[in-house]
Amino acid sequence: LDVARRTGFGLALPSRDPHAPAYRWLYSALRAAILQGQLRPGTRLPSTRDLAAQYRLSRGTVVAAFAQLTAEGYVDGTVGSGTHVRAVLPDALLQVDARATPRAVAHRPRHGLSRYGTRVQPFPPLEPRPSRAFRPNVPALDQFPMAVWAQLASRRLRRASTRALLSGDTRGYPPLRAAVADYLATSRGVTCHPDQVMIVAGVQEALDLVARLVLDPGDRVCIEDPGYRGAAQLFEAIGARVIAVPVDGDGVELAPSLLRGARLIYVTPAHQYPLGVAMSLPRRLELLEWARRAGALVFEDDYDSEYRYSGRPIPALQGLDRTGQVVFAGSFSKVLFPALRLGYLVLPGDLIDRFAAARSLTSRYVPLLEQTVLCDFILEGHFGRHLRRMRQLYAERLAVLMECARHQLSGLLELSTIEAGLQTIGWLPRGIPGEAVAEAARARDVEVIPLRRFYRGRMPRDGLQLGFAAVHAREIRRGVNDLAHATERLRTQYRGAARRAVRR
Ligand SMILES: Cc1ncc(COP(=O)(O)O)c(C=O)c1O
Repeated sequence: LDVARRTGFGLALPSRDPHAPAYRWLYSALRAAILQGQLRPGTRLPSTRDLAAQYRLSRGTVVAAFAQLTAEGYVDGTVGSGTHVRAVLPDALLQVDARATPRAVAHRPRHGLSRYGTRVQPFPPLEPRPSRAFRPNVPALDQFPMAVWAQLASRRLRRASTRALLSGDTRGYPPLRAAVADYLATSRGVTCHPDQVMIVAGVQEALDLVARLVLDPGDRVCIEDPGYRGAAQLFEAIGARVIAVPVDGDGVELAPSLLRGARLIYVTPAHQYPLGVAMSLPRRLELLEWARRAGALVFEDDYDSEYRYSGRPIPALQGLDRTGQVVFAGSFSKVLFPALRLGYLVLPGDLIDRFAAARSLTSRYVPLLEQTVLCDFILEGHFGRHLRRMRQLYAERLAVLMECARHQLSGLLELSTIEAGLQTIGWLPRGIPGEAVAEAARARDVEVIPLRRFYRGRMPRDGLQLGFAAVHAREIRRGVNDLAHATERLRTQYRGAARRAVRR
């Protein structure tokens, strides 16, 4: 272990006390670094020459400090292989200072926080475990053409100019913006000029920018109920009043009493998250008309709409908008891979500069290399090919799920006939709580999410969210089998309990 070779960083010691002799200061600083675990056993210390140059000391001073540390048993030195922290420090030394490992970080807030700082809550990350039945919200990552991506990335790196190392465009790499505008016009019916496109770090960043630019604390913002919790959490953190609006078979219900005074409404029209309902045309027109009259913005989260298995593709709400009420957002998280952290916004013309200004004060722009690789991936046809392959694979997996469910889950879980996306909903018989089924399924290594988790208000019917895209056909069959057993047992239990309650 070599501090410099391992990390490429110099050794940072606390600043020097100008009154202490140089030798004494260096000896104490290195000793403290060893005892506190900053320099771990086995680590190679920088050379006396490098340390002398870094801290402007004479070489003799450094040699003397090293000699003292060697004599006391903190370090070993052999000519030629350098000086290392001793692999085993004598107990007596460790007792000098019990903090041999870095101190645990205190998590309880001690510092004064803003209201945002106290309100903001962590959003759970995707779990880095192999996919099993029926993990939702993940694509089939083992199918991603990584060899192609690696080739494109290394070509970009080899050819990177100094300009590319200097800076990027706040709104994103211009050729990528043009490629995204083209793709959205063709496949999503979005009408936009590349100037309206902004490359963002996923839909989540798009939501954050919109929220900060149009909402003040106390402002009303409408969300779908059930809906995507990441949006609700974000709006709540900035202090907005979040109004949950029920969803029916046509999409979000436009109840005037709920929409009154709202500045923003967040919707997933292509296929509602998590129910999968597509917003009907009359509802879309009504929503745009409301937004126009109210002077409100509509945030269209087009998340996951690329995978349509049947029915006609449903063009974006943005394409119907004539008055600039819609902010359209989409993501590469589900079509490529979530850790890419790239997505896009299509903005009404009057908001472009505001968004660019906000971005220039935060992350400035998303990393350029990833944008250029993605741009090549799209322009050279790999994106379209990957989409087509995945659409076919997911359609097959969905068909396996529906087929197995018909045989084994009939009367236990009624699967929704969804037309798009990576997951579906299974409806439970009345009286069996989704949480209990999810718990029993977990014991059999099956992952399903109780629908309750997506609701803020009344839940008309209980069910489960089931993902199929990332799950191999064999695992889908295994999962259906185990889920059927778990649900059947619960149904017997709950029926027995209901009968006993009636008799009493
Ligand atoms: C409905 C919905 N919208 C947006 C997001 C956020 O996506 P991104 O990874 O692009 O930030 C998620 C993430 O799971 C989601 O479920």
